[in-house]
Amino acid sequence: MKRVYIETYGCQMNVADTELMFGVLAREGYVRSETPEGADVMLVNTCAVRDNAEQRVIGRVGELQRHKRPGTVLGVVGCMAQRLGPLLLEKVAKVDLVVGPDAYRNLGALIGNAALGHRAADVEFRSWEHYEDVPAVREPGPTRFITVQRGCDYRCTFCIVPYTRGPERSRTLEDVVTEVRSVAAAGASEVTLLGQTVNSWRNAGHDFADLLRAVGSIDGIRRVRFTSPYPTDFTPRVIAAMADTESVCEHVHLPVQSGSNAVLRRMLRRYTREQYLEVVARLRAAMPALTMSTDIIVGFPGETEEQFAETMELVEAAGFDDAYTFKYSVRDGTPAVKLRDRVPDEVASERLDRLISVVRQQARARNQAWVGSEQEVLVERPARRGAMMLGRTRSNHLVLLDLPTDSIGQYHTVRLSGTTGSTFTGAIVLAQLAVL
Ligand code: 5AD
Repeated sequence: MKRVYIETYGCQMNVADTELMFGVLAREGYVRSETPEGADVMLVNTCAVRDNAEQRVIGRVGELQRHKRPGTVLGVVGCMAQRLGPLLLEKVAKVDLVVGPDAYRNLGALIGNAALGHRAADVEFRSWEHYEDVPAVREPGPTRFITVQRGCDYRCTFCIVPYTRGPERSRTLEDVVTEVRSVAAAGASEVTLLGQTVNSWRNAGHDFADLLRAVGSIDGIRRVRFTSPYPTDFTPRVIAAMADTESVCEHVHLPVQSGSNAVLRRMLRRYTREQYLEVVARLRAAMPALTMSTDIIVGFPGETEEQFAETMELVEAAGFDDAYTFKYSVRDGTPAVKLRDRVPDEVASERLDRLISVVRQQARARNQAWVGSEQEVLVERPARRGAMMLGRTRSNHLVLLDLPTDSIGQYHTVRLSGTTGSTFTGAIVLAQLAVL
């Protein structure tokens, strides 16, 4: 029996892609190894979105080399593999294999050759590839990632993704529904639909509104989430489908990137600050209990102190419950490389610190307002520390619960009893069994 170990970095789509790779390799007789020790194949599924993500991977590949024995294959897969291609083979002698996101179908053959000493890179884009025939091998659990769209056709000037994941393509509605039915039949009750601009999903005359309604009405699916949407793709139809479909959760992660129109223009985002806030207002009007999170980049080329101040101010104006904040990282091959007036690193770092402190303060204040309320919580997994279980509300708040491990998959009505600022503690008000 051959054993494969995969370590995953980056976004949820990488998590889903790792499950696909386990599926591809299961067909070739591989079983999953939980540790690099003793594995015949070690793969690192990588992210290329920021330089520090890549540096981490390079460090980790160095560590994994130590587990190599004769015949063991060490591969780098995913977005950094796609970005660097054969160069990675040249630069890192212990890497045997470099495979991009559209080439996972060939993993078995590539690994076989690499084991015989033929190092290779496959970074071809295959714009038809959806891995439709590959059953993903997933960890057991009540929540599932479902990729509905691969690649990206937007050209945000800071972003490497269009060059690592290739052209945008949507799966058919039927294929998505079939997969969701099958995960529901296997016991999952929550799905998260994935795509780079997921609400621009479109296929054979159907739009994302149709997809939400179709997935949301599948037997056994009690919660539907999606990530990440693009502001201008929230059409009235999509918002209406969200509001009408009971299983669609009252939480949206909507990357804004900046609160300044001048910066948004240089980023080639397709909206203004005013249009973004208008989308937020329409979402909130349709779903009054909505919580929102976002992504923000600081220190984009040309960002002035005034423009940064507009971003700080937008955090409050939009009423974000949480935000993922990043210092701009130059990515070779993206249009922003050519932009002048780079922001000095110290200035960007200092802005990031100020932004994080505003985001934290606001998150804490907003979370405190939830303490005392009763929420439906899905028990997802054991918490990392202690003997508690971790659950999630529809609003995407994490709750620590004193429950046994066999409570995974159950829905409970929970009274939120306290918050650390980010995570909540909760007490069961009404226990419910998992709905089958
Ligand atoms: N530098 C910093 N952050 C970036 N992101 C994407 N590209 C870059 C970059 N070059 C951030 C964006 C995106 C998130 C996934 O990563 O905020 O929404």
